[in-house]
Amino acid sequence: MTFNGPPRRCIRLAVDHLNKNSQLDERASRIYLDNAATSWPKPQSVLDAVADYYLNHGSAAGRGVAADAVQVDRAIQLVRAKLSALIGAEDSNHLAFAFNGTDALNMAIRGVLRQGDHVITSVLEHNSVLRPLHYLKQLGMIDLTIVDIAPTGIVDVEQLEDSIVNNTKLICISHVSNVLGTVQPVKEIGSIEKPDQCLFLIDGAQSTGHLPVDVNAFGCDFFASSGHKGLLGPLGTGFLYSSDRAIEQLEPYRLGGTGTSSEKTEQPNEMPFRLESGNLNVGGILGMGAGIEFIETKSVASVQSHLNDLIRQFLDFASDQTGIKVFALDQQNLGAGVVSFQIDSMSPSEVATVLDSQFGIQVRSGLHCSPLVHKTIGSDKLEGTVRISVGPSNTAEDIDSLIDAMAQLMSA
Ligand SMILES: Cc1ncc(COP(=O)(O)O)c(C=O)c1O
Repeated sequence: MTFNGPPRRCIRLAVDHLNKNSQLDERASRIYLDNAATSWPKPQSVLDAVADYYLNHGSAAGRGVAADAVQVDRAIQLVRAKLSALIGAEDSNHLAFAFNGTDALNMAIRGVLRQGDHVITSVLEHNSVLRPLHYLKQLGMIDLTIVDIAPTGIVDVEQLEDSIVNNTKLICISHVSNVLGTVQPVKEIGSIEKPDQCLFLIDGAQSTGHLPVDVNAFGCDFFASSGHKGLLGPLGTGFLYSSDRAIEQLEPYRLGGTGTSSEKTEQPNEMPFRLESGNLNVGGILGMGAGIEFIETKSVASVQSHLNDLIRQFLDFASDQTGIKVFALDQQNLGAGVVSFQIDSMSPSEVATVLDSQFGIQVRSGLHCSPLVHKTIGSDKLEGTVRISVGPSNTAEDIDSLIDAMAQLMSA
């Protein structure tokens, strides 16, 4: 395949590079700083778990009485229990596997909202929250309030509280912003006084595995997350935790075979079958289970402190440079492994293209699927930000290489 890119010099260089190196395996020496999109590399134990399933098992979970099918189902329930323990959920049946964070968010949003409901969300949110809500609003089903953030990148809790009305059914807020890295005051939001029917959904796509999660302490009714980011599982994994009161109101958004109550044409009401229609991504879930073990062996606290060190290292460099503008994070608020910036002389996409093509450093540029926050932070004029996002495998040397590359870029 030949790429015909735009004419600017640095993009031309990148296009030439792509044309010369169209094989993925030729990029083996890259430094990967895009863990907020999906984490890489996966631990060997994750790859081994996936390979073991496909090489030595291969049965569908919860389908049939063959010994292998039963064994695979048990292994899946073990991952369910492990993941429940990681997020502080008492009953592992309250945790449903999903195919990614988006799927989990849709399970909650599409599962509880009804005609005439009011929903509150924030400008920080990802399109996986904004689009389903916008769709329901366009249908005339819900009213939507979108609250602002302070210059610190933190949701305006007072504005959120003031937006609650009698028919507010759902509050959706991300735990960690995927653009700014800022950690949101979910405990405080969870403890706000709300009408009885009002449920609190946390989008934990950027926090699970990087920060301690305790669904009870957060006072949330839903916690939706990807399994392929901080949990280090394969793509195609995610999950939704639901509280007792959420389950009372929750309709399935995907219906079909569950391997249970097959004589009935109605969807089973029991959790997790209510939400888990169709074959699970067994290989992916077992891989995610190995990812959770990997994180637990290190401990979430030590992963968090490692990510903080790397972010601090970058901020130390950036704070000495007049040509770099970092959004929202500072030395006091190190966020959770994600930082966004712009440099004076180049657009974010040019920076990302040159870092990749000239230095083998993979970062992300653009809006990061979170369109509203850019207007608030003023990054919309340059079409978004450059985002670096670190994972447990990144090292201080990776950040040194980034800093070196940035220094060369800015002096060119
Ligand atoms: C905050 C946030 N929510 C939701 C998602 C969607 O997750 P997934 O890609 O697993 O569907 C992402 C992915 O980047 C995200 O950053």
